[in-house]
Amino acid sequence: MRAFAQVTCVVVAIAASSGVTAMVFGADGAMSCTNEVVVSEKFIGKHNVKLTTFRCDHAGPVPALSGDSTKVCGAQCDTFCYQPAGGGPNEGDCAIISSALIDHKPNLFNVSGAGTGHNAVLLEHGSCKTYFFDLAATQLTYCYSEWDKLIKYLASTCNAAHGASGGHCIAADERWMVQVVHT
Ligand SMILES: *[C@@H]1O[C@H](CO)[C@@H](O)[C@H](O)[C@H]1NC(C)=O
Repeated sequence: MRAFAQVTCVVVAIAASSGVTAMVFGADGAMSCTNEVVVSEKFIGKHNVKLTTFRCDHAGPVPALSGDSTKVCGAQCDTFCYQPAGGGPNEGDCAIISSALIDHKPNLFNVSGAGTGHNAVLLEHGSCKTYFFDLAATQLTYCYSEWDKLIKYLASTCNAAHGASGGHCIAADERWMVQVVHT
């Protein structure tokens, strides 16, 4: 199943945040997300984790290869940690986000391709922010249960003790990524 292999550390700058301000990094560490438009906001779970859907422009979209499934829940991704350490995210804050996802119904969610609807989802609590980005031209279906696992994995593997301030796991075909960063 899922492999979070190939942990790579890359040096990147995280923009100071206001609103949903997101940065998307591809495997080369050079992709960004601009012209953000918030589509919806709500709170989930017992601890009021904020869930924002939005769309933004980014380099891409990555074209689907023939035969690619739009159901990417559980698909493999490669992990990159952001150096240096500093500013979090606090793993406890990320754990609260995880706890809000464990029994989330429905487990599956759709994220639009470029240009329409929302191509990104942000969950935030305290110092921890986590994004799901659809980097493809098409709608993708992902799931909260796998997002939960990636939050736990990234928040610990890319923590300050490992000299990092968060990181991301990007699909092998680069059609989507999950990012964990500090506020
Ligand atoms: C996702 O989109 C598909 C196809 O449009 C639809 O059948 C399905 O119900 C949607 N799933 C969710 C969780 O919204």
